[in-house]
Amino acid sequence: MLDVGFVGWRGMVGSVLLERMQAEGDFTGLAPSFYSTSSPGGPGPADLGFDSGRLGDAFDVGALARHDVIVTCQGGDYTHEVHPRLRAAGWNGYWIDAASALRMEPGTVLVLDPVNADVIAGGLARGRRDFCGANCTVSILLMAFAGLFRAGLVEWVTSMTYQAASGAGAAHMRELAAQMAAIGDAAREPLGDPASSALAVDRSVRAALADDGFPRSRFGAPLAASLLPWIDRPIGGGRSREELKGFEEGNKILGNEVPVPVDGLCVRVGSMRCHAHAVTVKLREDRPLDEIESLIGGAHEWVRVVENTPEATLAELTPAAVSGRLDVAVGRIRKLAMGGEFLTAFSVGDQLLWGAAEPLRRMLGILRSHLGEEHPARAEAA
Ligand code: HSE
Repeated sequence: MLDVGFVGWRGMVGSVLLERMQAEGDFTGLAPSFYSTSSPGGPGPADLGFDSGRLGDAFDVGALARHDVIVTCQGGDYTHEVHPRLRAAGWNGYWIDAASALRMEPGTVLVLDPVNADVIAGGLARGRRDFCGANCTVSILLMAFAGLFRAGLVEWVTSMTYQAASGAGAAHMRELAAQMAAIGDAAREPLGDPASSALAVDRSVRAALADDGFPRSRFGAPLAASLLPWIDRPIGGGRSREELKGFEEGNKILGNEVPVPVDGLCVRVGSMRCHAHAVTVKLREDRPLDEIESLIGGAHEWVRVVENTPEATLAELTPAAVSGRLDVAVGRIRKLAMGGEFLTAFSVGDQLLWGAAEPLRRMLGILRSHLGEEHPARAEAA
């Protein structure tokens, strides 16, 4: 049985990962151990349908090194601290990581198997040991438009994002809901009076947004009833780090030797857990829309083309409709007025599923098939 150590399983991405693994029966035939950075010795996760034992110490390199695979959703600081120590101790196992810390290291493979199964297989064949989930926005963009990239049709793409609170973290999701509640409280009185005007409602909402007590410690500004057109830190040239990832990680996922330009503005919106993109794709050649829709929809089983009608769009192409679903929706597909080579479309995907947990879960499955009865950590110890 493959020995797998899980770190960071209690957080939001880790919890979704365990839920998905349980739903898919992934724990069958696996020897899992659970670790904690804060409460080693405490009880492991409940409700998995088996005794998850006591928690190990997530900083105990000797204990971690006994595992064939370590899956971590603990975050970049943990990866920076523990991964080099494990490797320096000679551990030759597989490290599967949700964090960005190792993504752009030359030896790291970015995992998104419906899009880059060939890149993952190539990495395994070359003996790569570090496999990281990519930035959520980038993963969802590529899940949505894999068919166009695969057909070599993309000369460049701009991706204007609409990113959910969940991408910033669990505390941010709570703050978004708290902001909505504060707005609801402030607007209750004028809303309760059928004679009040929309401007009276707006005055109450604006007063709430401007109030010093309005919850904003996480986002730094109101997100509810507003939006935040800056995500992550500046990296020069007026660009945010989130905006660079589209290009860097996107091309690395695809294994492109000649990079495809990917750029755009990243914007936080008041969606809870779905990231969306409005894209402009410059096609290498004009192709009819029905062919483009077939390429997009036929790329893999988790992409769903939504008819470009108001009814279908509102029913199927919104964060509210896509939350909790494994399929990434792509709609509003049409040519722009600039010409037949200029395509626009809108995509929506669950940030916690294909944006975070699912690529890691599936990488563990790929490793299980790849390794069969091999146990790298035990071989190392022997
Ligand atoms: N950085 C992304 C965001 C999520 O803030 O939405 C993680 O990739």
